[in-house]
Amino acid sequence: MTAEIIHGKQIAQDIRAELQQEVAALVAKGIRPGLGVILVGSDPASTSYVTAKEKACEEIGIYSDDNRLPAETTQEELLAKVAEMNADPKINGILVQLPLPKHIDEAAVLMAIDPSKDVDGFHPVNVGKMVVGEKAFLPCTPHGVIQMLLRSGVETSGAHAVVVGRSNIVGKPVANMLVQKQKGGDATVTVCHTRTRDLAGHVRQADIVIAAAGRPNTITADMVKPGAVVIDVGVNRIEDASKKSGFRLVGDVDFDAVAEVASKITPVPGGVGPMTITMLLWNTVESAKQANGLA
Ligand code: GUN
Repeated sequence: MTAEIIHGKQIAQDIRAELQQEVAALVAKGIRPGLGVILVGSDPASTSYVTAKEKACEEIGIYSDDNRLPAETTQEELLAKVAEMNADPKINGILVQLPLPKHIDEAAVLMAIDPSKDVDGFHPVNVGKMVVGEKAFLPCTPHGVIQMLLRSGVETSGAHAVVVGRSNIVGKPVANMLVQKQKGGDATVTVCHTRTRDLAGHVRQADIVIAAAGRPNTITADMVKPGAVVIDVGVNRIEDASKKSGFRLVGDVDFDAVAEVASKITPVPGGVGPMTITMLLWNTVESAKQANGLA
Protein backbone atom coordinates (compact mmCIF):
# COMPACT_ATOMS: atom_id res chain seq x y z
CA MET A 1 0.00 0.00 0.00
CA THR A 2 1.31 3.44 -0.86
CA ALA A 3 -1.39 5.77 0.49
CA GLU A 4 -1.09 7.43 3.87
CA ILE A 5 -4.03 6.48 6.09
CA ILE A 6 -6.02 9.39 7.51
CA HIS A 7 -6.87 8.11 10.98
CA GLY A 8 -10.25 9.63 11.77
CA LYS A 9 -10.25 7.86 15.09
CA GLN A 10 -7.11 9.74 16.18
CA ILE A 11 -8.33 13.10 14.83
CA ALA A 12 -11.64 12.53 16.62
CA GLN A 13 -9.81 11.77 19.88
CA ASP A 14 -7.75 14.95 19.54
CA ILE A 15 -10.87 17.08 19.03
CA ARG A 16 -12.67 15.31 21.90
CA ALA A 17 -9.73 16.07 24.21
CA GLU A 18 -10.00 19.77 23.23
CA LEU A 19 -13.76 19.70 23.84
CA GLN A 20 -13.34 17.97 27.20
CA GLN A 21 -11.21 20.91 28.35
CA GLU A 22 -13.79 23.39 27.07
CA VAL A 23 -16.55 21.52 28.90
CA ALA A 24 -14.52 21.53 32.12
CA ALA A 25 -14.05 25.31 31.79
CA LEU A 26 -17.80 25.77 31.22
CA VAL A 27 -18.70 23.51 34.16
CA ALA A 28 -16.38 25.62 36.34
CA LYS A 29 -18.61 28.58 35.37
CA GLY A 30 -21.74 26.61 36.34
CA ILE A 31 -22.65 25.75 32.74
CA ARG A 32 -23.00 22.06 31.82
CA PRO A 33 -23.74 21.56 28.09
CA GLY A 34 -26.70 19.21 27.58
CA LEU A 35 -27.80 17.05 24.63
CA GLY A 36 -31.33 15.68 24.28
CA VAL A 37 -31.39 12.46 22.27
CA ILE A 38 -34.55 10.96 20.78
CA LEU A 39 -34.66 7.52 19.18
CA VAL A 40 -37.97 6.22 17.84
CA GLY A 41 -38.11 2.45 17.42
CA SER A 42 -35.30 -0.08 17.72
CA ASP A 43 -33.46 -0.23 14.39
CA PRO A 44 -30.15 -1.93 15.32
CA ALA A 45 -27.86 0.53 13.48
CA SER A 46 -29.72 3.57 14.89
CA THR A 47 -29.69 2.06 18.40
CA SER A 48 -25.94 1.53 18.25
CA TYR A 49 -25.34 5.10 16.94
CA VAL A 50 -27.51 6.60 19.69
CA THR A 51 -25.79 4.53 22.40
CA ALA A 52 -22.40 5.67 21.09
CA LYS A 53 -23.56 9.32 21.11
CA GLU A 54 -24.70 9.08 24.74
CA LYS A 55 -21.47 7.37 25.81
CA ALA A 56 -19.39 10.05 24.05
CA CYS A 57 -21.33 12.80 25.89
CA GLU A 58 -20.66 11.13 29.21
CA GLU A 59 -16.95 10.75 28.46
CA ILE A 60 -16.40 14.47 27.92
CA GLY A 61 -18.79 15.71 30.61
CA ILE A 62 -21.85 16.66 28.53
CA TYR A 63 -25.22 15.91 30.18
CA SER A 64 -27.33 13.64 27.98
CA ASP A 65 -31.07 13.20 28.23
CA ASP A 66 -31.81 9.83 26.69
CA ASN A 67 -35.30 9.23 25.22
CA ARG A 68 -36.03 5.89 23.59
CA LEU A 69 -39.57 5.93 22.29
CA PRO A 70 -41.56 2.97 20.92
CA ALA A 71 -41.91 2.53 17.14
CA GLU A 72 -45.66 3.29 17.47
CA THR A 73 -44.99 6.81 18.83
CA THR A 74 -47.27 9.24 17.00
CA GLN A 75 -46.06 12.36 15.27
CA GLU A 76 -47.94 14.46 17.88
CA GLU A 77 -46.16 12.66 20.73
CA LEU A 78 -42.79 13.16 19.08
CA LEU A 79 -43.50 16.85 18.40
CA ALA A 80 -44.53 17.26 22.06
CA LYS A 81 -41.19 15.78 23.15
CA VAL A 82 -39.31 18.14 20.84
CA ALA A 83 -41.30 21.11 22.22
CA GLU A 84 -40.45 20.03 25.77
CA MET A 85 -36.74 19.95 24.89
CA ASN A 86 -36.95 23.30 23.06
CA ALA A 87 -38.18 24.80 26.35
CA ASP A 88 -35.73 22.99 28.65
CA PRO A 89 -32.77 25.20 29.60
CA LYS A 90 -30.67 22.12 30.52
CA ILE A 91 -30.79 21.05 26.86
CA ASN A 92 -28.52 22.91 24.43
CA GLY A 93 -28.76 20.44 21.58
CA ILE A 94 -31.56 18.22 20.29
CA LEU A 95 -30.85 15.13 18.23
CA VAL A 96 -33.68 13.17 16.63
CA GLN A 97 -32.08 10.05 15.20
CA LEU A 98 -32.98 9.42 11.56
CA PRO A 99 -34.54 7.64 9.80
CA LEU A 100 -37.90 7.97 11.55
CA PRO A 101 -40.69 5.39 11.12
CA LYS A 102 -42.69 5.82 7.89
CA HIS A 103 -45.82 7.20 9.61
CA ILE A 104 -43.88 10.25 10.84
CA ASP A 105 -43.20 13.28 8.63
CA GLU A 106 -39.44 13.68 9.06
CA ALA A 107 -39.31 17.20 7.62
CA ALA A 108 -42.04 18.39 10.03
CA VAL A 109 -40.10 17.04 13.01
CA LEU A 110 -36.81 18.61 11.89
CA MET A 111 -38.63 21.93 11.33
CA ALA A 112 -39.98 21.79 14.90
CA ILE A 113 -36.50 21.80 16.47
CA ASP A 114 -35.46 25.26 17.69
CA PRO A 115 -32.72 26.25 15.18
CA SER A 116 -30.58 27.46 18.12
CA LYS A 117 -30.61 23.85 19.45
CA ASP A 118 -30.31 22.14 16.04
CA VAL A 119 -26.91 20.51 16.63
CA ASP A 120 -27.46 18.17 13.65
CA GLY A 121 -27.64 21.23 11.37
CA PHE A 122 -30.67 19.80 9.54
CA HIS A 123 -33.15 22.66 10.14
CA PRO A 124 -33.74 24.73 6.96
CA VAL A 125 -32.65 27.87 8.87
CA ASN A 126 -29.22 26.34 9.52
CA VAL A 127 -29.03 24.83 6.02
CA GLY A 128 -29.80 28.27 4.56
CA LYS A 129 -27.22 30.00 6.73
CA MET A 130 -24.61 27.43 5.73
CA VAL A 131 -25.35 27.95 2.03
CA VAL A 132 -24.95 31.73 2.25
CA GLY A 133 -21.80 31.35 4.38
CA GLU A 134 -23.22 32.68 7.67
CA LYS A 135 -22.32 31.17 11.05
CA ALA A 136 -24.53 28.08 11.50
CA PHE A 137 -24.57 24.65 13.05
CA LEU A 138 -22.95 22.53 10.36
CA PRO A 139 -24.16 18.97 9.81
CA CYS A 140 -21.84 16.59 11.67
CA THR A 141 -20.62 14.11 9.07
CA PRO A 142 -19.73 16.65 6.34
CA HIS A 143 -18.19 18.99 8.93
CA GLY A 144 -16.17 15.99 10.17
CA VAL A 145 -14.93 15.39 6.62
CA ILE A 146 -13.76 19.02 6.34
CA GLN A 147 -11.99 18.80 9.71
CA MET A 148 -10.22 15.61 8.60
CA LEU A 149 -8.99 17.31 5.43
CA LEU A 150 -7.83 20.38 7.39
CA ARG A 151 -6.12 18.42 10.15
CA SER A 152 -4.33 16.08 7.77
CA GLY A 153 -2.93 18.94 5.70
CA VAL A 154 -4.96 18.44 2.53
CA GLU A 155 -5.18 21.67 0.51
CA THR A 156 -8.73 22.14 -0.73
CA SER A 157 -8.21 25.60 -2.25
CA GLY A 158 -8.20 25.29 -6.02
CA ALA A 159 -8.50 21.49 -5.85
CA HIS A 160 -11.11 19.64 -7.85
CA ALA A 161 -13.32 17.77 -5.36
CA VAL A 162 -15.72 15.16 -6.72
CA VAL A 163 -18.55 14.25 -4.35
CA VAL A 164 -20.34 10.99 -5.09
CA GLY A 165 -23.79 11.09 -3.51
CA ARG A 166 -26.39 13.85 -3.09
CA SER A 167 -28.07 13.13 0.26
CA ASN A 168 -29.21 15.96 2.51
CA ILE A 169 -27.07 14.51 5.33
CA VAL A 170 -23.75 14.21 3.47
CA GLY A 171 -23.49 14.81 -0.30
CA LYS A 172 -25.24 18.17 -0.64
CA PRO A 173 -23.79 19.78 2.52
CA VAL A 174 -20.22 18.55 1.96
CA ALA A 175 -20.31 19.89 -1.61
CA ASN A 176 -21.52 23.19 -0.22
CA MET A 177 -18.82 23.41 2.44
CA LEU A 178 -16.10 22.59 -0.09
CA VAL A 179 -17.20 25.41 -2.37
CA GLN A 180 -17.43 28.09 0.37
CA LYS A 181 -14.95 30.94 0.25
CA GLN A 182 -13.06 29.90 3.40
CA LYS A 183 -10.41 27.61 4.87
CA GLY A 184 -11.32 24.00 4.08
CA GLY A 185 -13.26 25.31 1.07
CA ASP A 186 -12.39 27.17 -2.15
CA ALA A 187 -12.53 23.90 -4.11
CA THR A 188 -13.98 23.37 -7.56
CA VAL A 189 -16.78 20.91 -6.87
CA THR A 190 -18.53 18.30 -8.98
CA VAL A 191 -21.47 16.36 -7.50
CA CYS A 192 -22.17 12.92 -8.98
CA HIS A 193 -25.22 10.76 -8.25
CA THR A 194 -27.23 7.79 -9.51
CA ARG A 195 -28.16 9.57 -12.75
CA THR A 196 -24.63 10.71 -13.57
CA ARG A 197 -23.68 9.41 -17.04
CA ASP A 198 -19.96 8.78 -16.71
CA LEU A 199 -19.18 8.39 -13.01
CA ALA A 200 -15.70 6.96 -13.61
CA GLY A 201 -14.86 9.79 -16.02
CA HIS A 202 -15.78 12.42 -13.41
CA VAL A 203 -14.04 10.69 -10.50
CA ARG A 204 -10.85 10.34 -12.58
CA GLN A 205 -10.64 14.16 -12.70
CA ALA A 206 -10.68 14.47 -8.90
CA ASP A 207 -7.87 15.66 -6.66
CA ILE A 208 -10.20 14.87 -3.73
CA VAL A 209 -12.87 12.15 -3.89
CA ILE A 210 -15.67 12.18 -1.30
CA ALA A 211 -17.51 8.84 -1.52
CA ALA A 212 -20.97 9.12 0.01
CA ALA A 213 -23.07 6.87 -2.19
CA GLY A 214 -24.04 4.24 0.39
CA ARG A 215 -22.97 1.33 -1.82
CA PRO A 216 -19.88 -0.89 -1.46
CA ASN A 217 -17.25 -0.77 -4.23
CA THR A 218 -18.67 2.38 -5.81
CA ILE A 219 -15.12 3.71 -6.11
CA THR A 220 -12.62 1.29 -7.65
CA ALA A 221 -8.89 1.77 -8.28
CA ASP A 222 -9.29 2.36 -12.04
CA MET A 223 -11.47 5.40 -11.25
CA VAL A 224 -8.91 7.17 -9.04
CA LYS A 225 -6.25 9.56 -10.34
CA PRO A 226 -2.80 8.66 -8.96
CA GLY A 227 -2.11 10.80 -5.89
CA ALA A 228 -5.75 11.73 -5.22
CA VAL A 229 -7.08 12.01 -1.65
CA VAL A 230 -9.99 9.62 -1.02
CA ILE A 231 -12.46 10.14 1.82
CA ASP A 232 -14.86 7.24 2.34
CA VAL A 233 -18.11 8.23 4.06
CA GLY A 234 -19.83 4.90 3.33
CA VAL A 235 -20.99 2.66 6.16
CA ASN A 236 -22.33 -0.57 4.70
CA ARG A 237 -23.12 -3.75 6.62
CA ILE A 238 -21.93 -6.86 4.78
CA GLU A 239 -22.90 -10.34 5.99
CA ASP A 240 -19.91 -12.10 7.50
CA ALA A 241 -20.45 -15.42 9.27
CA SER A 242 -16.95 -15.27 10.77
CA LYS A 243 -17.97 -12.26 12.90
CA LYS A 244 -19.83 -12.60 16.19
CA SER A 245 -22.31 -9.93 15.06
CA GLY A 246 -22.83 -11.73 11.73
CA PHE A 247 -21.71 -8.68 9.73
CA ARG A 248 -18.76 -6.42 9.06
CA LEU A 249 -18.62 -2.78 8.02
CA VAL A 250 -17.26 -1.68 4.66
CA GLY A 251 -17.21 1.73 3.02
CA ASP A 252 -18.04 2.78 -0.55
CA VAL A 253 -14.42 2.47 -1.66
CA ASP A 254 -12.51 -0.67 -2.69
CA PHE A 255 -9.98 0.17 0.02
CA ASP A 256 -7.09 -2.25 -0.65
CA ALA A 257 -6.87 -1.50 -4.37
CA VAL A 258 -7.53 2.25 -4.11
CA ALA A 259 -4.85 2.57 -1.38
CA GLU A 260 -2.30 1.57 -4.07
CA VAL A 261 -3.24 4.61 -6.18
CA ALA A 262 -4.32 7.35 -3.76
CA SER A 263 -1.94 9.56 -1.75
CA LYS A 264 -4.20 9.61 1.32
CA ILE A 265 -7.23 7.51 2.19
CA THR A 266 -9.64 7.02 5.09
CA PRO A 267 -10.40 3.50 6.36
CA VAL A 268 -13.79 2.05 7.33
CA PRO A 269 -14.17 1.61 10.24
CA GLY A 270 -11.96 4.15 12.00
CA GLY A 271 -12.19 6.90 9.38
CA VAL A 272 -15.09 9.32 9.01
CA GLY A 273 -17.32 7.37 11.46
CA PRO A 274 -15.77 8.60 14.73
CA MET A 275 -15.80 12.18 13.40
CA THR A 276 -19.61 12.35 13.16
CA ILE A 277 -20.20 11.98 16.89
CA THR A 278 -17.27 14.27 17.64
CA MET A 279 -18.77 17.08 15.59
CA LEU A 280 -22.10 16.56 17.40
CA LEU A 281 -20.25 17.13 20.69
CA TRP A 282 -18.58 20.18 19.10
CA ASN A 283 -21.96 21.66 18.11
CA THR A 284 -23.43 20.94 21.55
CA VAL A 285 -20.56 22.75 23.30
CA GLU A 286 -20.88 25.63 20.81
CA SER A 287 -24.64 25.83 21.48
CA ALA A 288 -24.07 25.95 25.26
CA LYS A 289 -21.58 28.78 24.75
CA GLN A 290 -24.03 30.68 22.55
CA ALA A 291 -26.90 30.19 25.04
CA ASN A 292 -24.71 31.79 27.71
CA GLY A 293 -23.38 34.67 25.63
CA LEU A 294 -19.90 33.12 25.36
CA ALA A 295 -19.75 32.67 21.58
N1 GUN B 1 -28.88 9.12 10.82
C1 GUN B 1 -27.74 8.93 10.10
N2 GUN B 1 -26.87 9.94 10.32
C2 GUN B 1 -27.46 10.78 11.17
C3 GUN B 1 -27.06 12.00 11.78
O1 GUN B 1 -25.96 12.54 11.56
N3 GUN B 1 -27.95 12.56 12.63
C4 GUN B 1 -29.16 12.01 12.88
N4 GUN B 1 -29.99 12.64 13.71
N5 GUN B 1 -29.57 10.88 12.33
C5 GUN B 1 -28.72 10.27 11.50
